[in-house]
Amino acid sequence: MINVTFVCLGNICRSPMAELILKDIVEKRGLSRSFHITSCATSNEEVGNPVYPPAARELARHGIYGTHRARRITKDDISENDYILVMDSNNLANVLRLAEGANAKKVFKLCSFTQNPRDVSDPWYTRDFEKAFEDISDGCNAFLEYLLREKKELF
Ligand code: 4NP
Repeated sequence: MINVTFVCLGNICRSPMAELILKDIVEKRGLSRSFHITSCATSNEEVGNPVYPPAARELARHGIYGTHRARRITKDDISENDYILVMDSNNLANVLRLAEGANAKKVFKLCSFTQNPRDVSDPWYTRDFEKAFEDISDGCNAFLEYLLREKKELF
């Protein structure tokens, strides 16, 4: 089982989008049983709130549906997951503050797996949920290709 958690600031836009997009990708590839996929926030701001409606609408436009309630990351999330995939450099700094010792090696920016390493475009500020969807899809597809190429033993 490969345990993956996605992290952003509020856990209402980017990281729940990533959770639901990767679940959709692995489902379509017949790999669901190899994965446990969650998401969480670095802040308390949105704890308990559902996926932000414009983010849910963008997912639905791509045939992706699912529910989620925002929750804040804990040290247990860091110890229990194999991959902690953050959206941007701010998330990275915040998560690395919680990830001690060897756990720091589990933390990656999602788009670091792509041909074009970058932060995921933040739709809270850009209001461009389509761009965020494209960045996140690119990152999730590249992450899965990395696992299938470099971590065959996990499957
Ligand atoms: P997310 O988006 O981190 O992608 O879930 C945000 C949600 C809430 C806030 C910022 C970003 N906020 O400032 O409350």
